[in-house]
Amino acid sequence: MDVDLVVVGAGLFGLTVAQQAAELAGARVRIIDVRDHIGGNAYSYMDEETGAEIHKYGAHLFHTSNQRVWDYVNRFTEFTDYTHRVYTTHGGEVYPLPINLGTINQFFHAHYSPAQAQALIAGQAGELAGTDPENLNDKGISLIGRPLYEAFIKNYTAKQWQTDPSELPASIISRLPVRFNYDNRYFKDTWEGLPKDGYTAWFERMIADPRISVSLSTDFFDAGQPWNRDALAGRVPVVYTGPVDRYFDYRLGELKWRTVDFKERRYDEDDHFGCPVMNFSDPDVAYTRAIEFKNFNPERREAQNHERTVVWEEYSRFAGRGDEPYYPINTAQDRTLYNQYRQLAAAEPQVIFGGRLGTYAYYDMHQVINSALIAYDKQISPLLAK
Ligand code: FDA
Repeated sequence: MDVDLVVVGAGLFGLTVAQQAAELAGARVRIIDVRDHIGGNAYSYMDEETGAEIHKYGAHLFHTSNQRVWDYVNRFTEFTDYTHRVYTTHGGEVYPLPINLGTINQFFHAHYSPAQAQALIAGQAGELAGTDPENLNDKGISLIGRPLYEAFIKNYTAKQWQTDPSELPASIISRLPVRFNYDNRYFKDTWEGLPKDGYTAWFERMIADPRISVSLSTDFFDAGQPWNRDALAGRVPVVYTGPVDRYFDYRLGELKWRTVDFKERRYDEDDHFGCPVMNFSDPDVAYTRAIEFKNFNPERREAQNHERTVVWEEYSRFAGRGDEPYYPINTAQDRTLYNQYRQLAAAEPQVIFGGRLGTYAYYDMHQVINSALIAYDKQISPLLAK
């Protein structure tokens, strides 16, 4: 075997550990991925007709306050000065999100000061004072009051979960951010932006090391290819970033996920929404939100097609085994099951489980890079030193 480490999954966890292993330990690394591209869920491609960069698995915006991660990613790409802002359509009007003083004053046709708005919302949230909300509906009302909850949260959440919020556990939300000023920057992080020449160029630079090789369209569980689970067992360290329950042949049961279906629409317009992300918080629109990819990169405007634009509508639903697992559902039952798998994983010789699928967790990109840097330092580097 001519490699020192096999990495299953070319997502950000896998790319980061591969890059670190080659650079810091001089390791020969083979990355395999069942898909036909690198980048995992953060992969994007250029749409020839419109000039938009399409994020194939849903909109990906980079943001972080972690200095180590920011320094690390800047080795491989420059970032644009894109600042994420989201709007929502409700009752035939467009409002800014997250809910802020602009949203509140537009909604109540008022000119409240920050203190007045705060007092108003506290009063409305007091409707259920003294009760301990058991379902998401009551929790939402107790956090921001009924009017704002019902306008902006209730139906959006019902679409996300395909379930009436009064039947969802209150534990799904711990807080609903409301800002009592006009700041509608979506993220609060120190740094944010999009990779200047696209996600794929960034990811290619991470593995531009002759010691790293990649096999695409290669399934770790396919016994017909040489980098499969049984052939590698105990022979070489493996970093596994696929689904943890799949690794153990679902022997304890299946972890539950939500997925998203994307419906593409093309319009004979330069700009359809005037913003990159438009949420739809009413039940008459079946999708939760729509992404207009051209608007993520205003700095490329000149080079884009001014006659056409592309929009992806997002429809959320529970995932079956053949679907892309996107958001862990994370009920108490799921967490118990995951902990059982985690014990099996801990006993697996020379296999490190990482990333969102390998640890049944939702991570943003900066979080998964951070966890990969730490996993390399603490778990993978000692294996390579042997
Ligand atoms: P990831 O899923 O990217 O990679 C795992 C890889 O393993 C995949 O490429 C898969 O094909 C491969 N694999 C699985 N099984 C295999 C097998 N049997 N054999 C071989 N390969 C196998 N984050 C953020 O910071 N900003 C954002 O705006 C968003 N937006 C966003 C939208 C949506 C809809 C989702 C679902 C997620 C986001 N994210 C995000 C999160 C982001 O996608 C996430 O942090 C990274 O993709 C996680 O990288 P991983 O390497 O853990 O998994």
